[in-house]
Amino acid sequence: MATARKSVPTAWVVVLFLITVVLVFAVIRVTIDSQNIANGVIPEEGEFDHRYARYPILAYAHILPGVVYLVLAPFQVSRRFRNRHLDLHRKMGRFLVPIGIVSGVMGVLFGFFFSFGGFAEASAAVVFGTWFVIALALAYSYIRAGDTVRHRRWMIRAFAIGLGVGTIRIWVGVFQGFGLLDEVTSFGVAFWLSWTLHVIAAEIWLWRRPT
Ligand code: HEM
Repeated sequence: MATARKSVPTAWVVVLFLITVVLVFAVIRVTIDSQNIANGVIPEEGEFDHRYARYPILAYAHILPGVVYLVLAPFQVSRRFRNRHLDLHRKMGRFLVPIGIVSGVMGVLFGFFFSFGGFAEASAAVVFGTWFVIALALAYSYIRAGDTVRHRRWMIRAFAIGLGVGTIRIWVGVFQGFGLLDEVTSFGVAFWLSWTLHVIAAEIWLWRRPT
């Protein structure tokens, strides 16, 4: 019991760290793309930044709602926040479910059509993006049916996928930083590895805390 209680603050440290990683890369993304778009520059095809300057609407229809979802979702999964502000939890939920789904669907499209990491990244985006969208939709339908236990379980599954975006960036950094994989392969491997780990971590979390 003591271990389970101790692991909660540890989990929050991990959550905040991963969200910070995502935010740092989102800021870098916006900085690069806004300069490219303002100057009418589209980087060469094959360069990482090419797709973001070439298809900014699709890219930002994914990134912007994704960032809002990821920044606000921790409040939603926090028991303390829910207990103190249940009405706000409900209002935020009605807003976060659709924007999470929009981000997920756009992420699947961007990954499927314009992945940097080829088939491996595209397939991971389709598999885990679909899982993310289904998890949010199920979580919503369960709370409409008054089933708070299943609602919580599916929300945690969705949140774990959202957090996986930070882990992906860390693995890409490790693979490229240590020269273990080339640029393209590192993305495909990092996408599969990170989201698989996050799905497993979420299931372990739910197994240890079923209600
Ligand atoms: C929900 C929280 C999410 C946030 C905050 C988020 C944020 C981002 C950001 C900032 C980027 C740009 C990456 C960079 O320039 O380094 C990105 C790219 C991408 N995201 Fe997400 N994302 C989220 C969820 C997802 C999900 C669920 C999917 C699954 C389909 C997904 C698929 C992708 C893909 C395929 C890319 C393109 C990577 C590339 O450049 O090849 N994201 N996302």
